[in-house]
Amino acid sequence: MTATATTRLPIVILISGRGSNLEAIIRCAQRGGLGVDIRAVISNRPGVPGLAVAAAAGIPAEVIDHAAYADRAAFERALRVRIDTFRPDLVVLAGFMRLLTAGFVAHYHGRMLNVHPSLLPALPGLETHRRAIEGGLREHGASVHFVTAEVDGGPVVLQARLPVAADDTPDALAARVLVLEHRMYPLAIQWFASGRIFLDESGHILFDGKRLTQPRELAREKPLPC
Ligand code: GRF
Repeated sequence: MTATATTRLPIVILISGRGSNLEAIIRCAQRGGLGVDIRAVISNRPGVPGLAVAAAAGIPAEVIDHAAYADRAAFERALRVRIDTFRPDLVVLAGFMRLLTAGFVAHYHGRMLNVHPSLLPALPGLETHRRAIEGGLREHGASVHFVTAEVDGGPVVLQARLPVAADDTPDALAARVLVLEHRMYPLAIQWFASGRIFLDESGHILFDGKRLTQPRELAREKPLPC
């Protein structure tokens, strides 16, 4: 389903922590620019700040605590059942820090997005800002991608880049990248909700009906009014 002027795309957002990307998405959704209906926010960790962000916006906020399940399969089963109760057309990973199995990911094939703090395929995994500095990278940034079984390996929709300063620290770099994430993630979600991006059967992204051969660049896109 694609959102139209009268319908909004149902989405569920998964978090594990702070929820600043969640907050940016909520802000844009509330200002009417995204075309989405955030049906629920689900955290795999109890008591995290992102849950309060959702609750303050009047969005159902729930916990499926991975630590309460015997194994990954049981956790994922519970998570999938709960997500599907809300019948989302898109699942948004916003700082969701659990690895997902191929079976779980396949269930949401073409309808699950993630934001990752690096210019993928560079620096998949954790501690990207420290690794960017230690690796002497001159450029760093963030990527929004469709989620596939390969961790941080799915097709990239949109990237945002910035220079790494000679005296950068991981925290300073992370803060600058985060500002970009807050702009780019709502934009990519809006593209999905309006049917501009689509994952075809061969696993390629179609953008406005044409195959995307390289990610879109945030700096070249018209900013959302939120
Ligand atoms: C972000 O840097 C995101 O790219 C990464 O985890 C962080 C989540 O931050 N996947 P927040 O919870 O959205 O504030």
